Amino acid sequence: MIEYIRTINKYGGDILASDGMQSEKRFMQHGRVSTYDHSFDVAVMCLRLSKKLHIRADKRSLVRGALLHDYYLYDWHTPHDGHDMHALMHARCALDNASRDFALNDIERDMIARHMFPLNITPPKYRESVILCIADKLCALSETFSKRGKS
Ligand SMILES: [Fe+2]
Ligand SMILES: [Fe+2]
Repeated sequence: MIEYIRTINKYGGDILASDGMQSEKRFMQHGRVSTYDHSFDVAVMCLRLSKKLHIRADKRSLVRGALLHDYYLYDWHTPHDGHDMHALMHARCALDNASRDFALNDIERDMIARHMFPLNITPPKYRESVILCIADKLCALSETFSKRGKS
């Protein structure tokens, strides 16, 4: 675990420290898990899947795309104009925000834009995006059905 945390800090330390990412600590994702913690957990899961399944991946892009995949920067539980289609629309919103705040490469852009496949019907283009799709769903399931939340 410590190895994954080191890798995330190495490649995504600037993202974690950013105002946008810090604001994710106020937004709940699933259960009592904040969007910040969810994104961090998804980055860990991406690295874990890549290692355990022996899937070669660009680690820097894998970490950065995972940290930013839900960078939509609002609380989707709060009824708000434009957020009623959250499940369908948030990947696009996250990509717009992430592109505004960070320099993204093609892999990172694809990861963020396609992470809701198959709900968003365009399939992932890169193996890093496929890893993220799987990691995100595993983490979401675990968060939804876990009795415990992070504080
Ligand atoms: Fe998402
Ligand atoms: Fe997510």
